[in-house]
Amino acid sequence: MKQFTSVKDIDSLEEMISLAQKMKENPFVNKHLGENKTLGLLFFNPSLRTRMSTQKAAMNLGMQIMVMNVNSDGWQIELENGTVMNQGTSEHIKEAAGVLSQYCDVIGIRAFANLKNQQEDYEEKILNKFIEFASVPVISLESATKHPLQSFADVLTIEENKTKKKPKIVLTWAPHPKALPQAVANSFVGWIKETEAELVIANPKGFDLNPEITKGIPVLHNQEEALENADFVYVKNWSSYEDYGKTLEDENWMLTQEKMDKTNHGKFMHCLPVRRNVVVSDEVIDSQASLVLEQANNRTFSAQAVLYKILQDGIENS
Ligand code: CP
Repeated sequence: MKQFTSVKDIDSLEEMISLAQKMKENPFVNKHLGENKTLGLLFFNPSLRTRMSTQKAAMNLGMQIMVMNVNSDGWQIELENGTVMNQGTSEHIKEAAGVLSQYCDVIGIRAFANLKNQQEDYEEKILNKFIEFASVPVISLESATKHPLQSFADVLTIEENKTKKKPKIVLTWAPHPKALPQAVANSFVGWIKETEAELVIANPKGFDLNPEITKGIPVLHNQEEALENADFVYVKNWSSYEDYGKTLEDENWMLTQEKMDKTNHGKFMHCLPVRRNVVVSDEVIDSQASLVLEQANNRTFSAQAVLYKILQDGIENS
């Protein structure tokens, strides 16, 4: 595996799930695979789970890890070619990626959407420029439009908790006071499409995701109708794709126990961090139906499976 930026970068989801499950059963079975290999993690945005779980995954494989918060600790990076760099940016991405490729065997990048320009965000400039100028594999730690490590952990969690071959999964929008990217929702749709599950999306009018991503998936604007008989309810806020970056604070869309009672004893999922009693009520997230800690735990093993594939492929091709 040369890069991990979306579900399209893996050959077989079945194989990856099985690999992650093996890692979970025995996290240290490959503890020598990453010896003398270094993982560099660059964060342009905050993180708790991605930062810690990816480090833990790398440690389980015997890798060394270096982490940098670019915005607070690094030089401001220039992305464009031919710029006269006499303003704010001090370091070009060509040098940054080239230098890091000498220090690291794998590079992880977190760079969120800025939610100002849809085209720029969907071009994935920072991630793609790192891939272009780095000479080592690059993994996405959440890009402007996708969060593949999260979705892999989510699919693994569903696989472990499903009681039927084709569960009904509802991805529902929920309110949030800040404009959030569409990355988690986009990615979740992309990964679930690769499974046999039935997926339904619920969101207010004006908040449909990118139609290229949701093609073939029913989108309802009535949350309660969508939730009927759901086996899994994945809640997430996203800002508008259509009216790019616009937010909506409609508390009627918060997930409550009353709404969960319409499901088929549905399990509650969220990627975290979550704003309690805005996105979801305490009653739901604290209930037995909540899978949020399992999802977060599975972040380690999804990352470990990805790093394992990259390291293994590197050995096979050396
Ligand atoms: N779910 C997730 O990516 O969490 P962090 O933003 O804390 O990494």
